[in-house]
Formats: sequence, C-alpha cells, structure tokens
Amino acid sequence: MLTAYDAPSARLAEAAGVDLLLVGDSLGMVVLGFSSTVSVTLEMMVHHTQAVRRGAPETFTVADLPFLWAHEAPEAALRAAGRLIQEGGAHAVKLEGGAEVAPLVRRLVAAGIPVMGHLGLLPQTVLVTGGYRVQGKSAAEAERIVADARALVEAGAFSLVVEAVPESVGRSVARAVPVPVIGIGAGRFVDGQVLVYHDLLGYGVGRAPRFVKRYAELDAVIVGAIRAYADDVRSGRFPEAAHAYLPVEAVPGEAAG
Ligand code: KIV
Ligand code: NA
Repeated sequence: MLTAYDAPSARLAEAAGVDLLLVGDSLGMVVLGFSSTVSVTLEMMVHHTQAVRRGAPETFTVADLPFLWAHEAPEAALRAAGRLIQEGGAHAVKLEGGAEVAPLVRRLVAAGIPVMGHLGLLPQTVLVTGGYRVQGKSAAEAERIVADARALVEAGAFSLVVEAVPESVGRSVARAVPVPVIGIGAGRFVDGQVLVYHDLLGYGVGRAPRFVKRYAELDAVIVGAIRAYADDVRSGRFPEAAHAYLPVEAVPGEAAG
C-alpha cells in the first residue's frame, strides 16, 4: 500500500502495480505544507481523493476520515464518510482510534462503507500527545492496542493500519485478528506495508523516520533539472529552433528574431 494525493502520483503508483492506494491525511503535511494533519478538512480530502481516482481508476483506494469526524455525532460522521465514497470515489475509508470508535465502525459498515482501522501512533492526536512517538512500549499499552484491534475487527473493520509500534506489537496484532494488518513502522511480522509516497521517493520531505526506506532521492533530481533549465534560459541555450513553431531561418551572422 502506498499513499497518493493527486492524479500523477496515483497514475505512477498504479503503473508500478501497487495493490492499495491510501489518500492519507498526511496530504496536509507532504503536499499542502501544514505542520500536522489536524489542518486537513473533509473538503480537501474529497478534492484529492477525486484526483487520485482519476489517476488510478483500476486501484482500490482508501481515503482518510480527517480530524474530528470520527468523534462527531454518528449521523455527521456517517455523512462525512459517505462524501469520501460518493463524491471522492473512494472504495473505503480509514479512521484513527481504538475501541472508542468501534461503534462508529459498526455503523459505517452497516451502512455499506468498508472501514480500515488505524492503531498505534495516531497523528490526529498530536496536539494532545505533543509529538510523534513509538506507541505500545509498555506491556499494558501493547495489550490495549491488541484489544483495540480485536474491537475494531469485531465491529467490522476489513483491515487495520498499525503505525509506529515495537515489532512484537505489530506481530501480536497480526496474530490476534484475521483481517490484513498493514504496518508502517510496525516491523516485519504484519501482512502488508504502507509508506508515504514522498518519503519513499525522497521528494520534498526532510529527514524521514526510522521506518522509512528511501527508494529514490527525487529532490536532487528535481533541483538539478530546474537549475539546468534556469541556466539554459539565462545563457540562451534554451529554447532552440527545435522548440519553436515555424522557426525563423537563421540569417548568417545575425541572431534570429
Ligand atoms: O495519512 C497517512 O499517510 C496515513 C499512513 C501513514 C498510514 O495514515
Ligand atoms: Na492518515
């Protein structure tokens, strides 16, 4: 699984044969320049989900339910998730939280909306927690995460994301529930992996967390290309006759134009 936020990222991920796309609310940080995901609105999620679906029409796509919606009254939360499906074109929604959101998960699934859970590090709670830290390090916390996983699956979640937990916790969750467990910083013993597009590609993001593997360094490629373009324009190497419409024949000894 890989995140995507627009048509080109979705098109390239689909071309690469990715199984699942996630329109993550990480959108706010890696694309929109916010400092956390709490600034991401439902409107933004619908807008970007539409673009991803246009870019990758053949790939199962999950959209994040943004900040607060899982804690609204059930009718409001249902409407919000419904917009991600109906207007956005998502096939499923993902929402952060444990047993406390299980009643909502049950409600959404009953209404026909497939739900992916999200446990461990919950970026939407950063204003309360004060940072992005590994979760489930104590035995009690680890047990709670496993119990939350069971509650979500019991409520009808078809899959879970588990973020930033010790490897043993990722393994415990994967063993505890029959649905696919997708890890991000959850170690090796889960059923699948998800990464943020820009992290994987080294594209416009700074230092990455431990769990990221960089498969490319696009920043250097992009800055190099833009610098070469600017140099060419400034020095007159671009454009050439080949880039002009009905190019004027060069007069010997005289510059065209
Ligand atoms: O928003 C996101 O990109 C996510 C993944 C990190 C799981 O929720
Ligand atoms: Na997210």
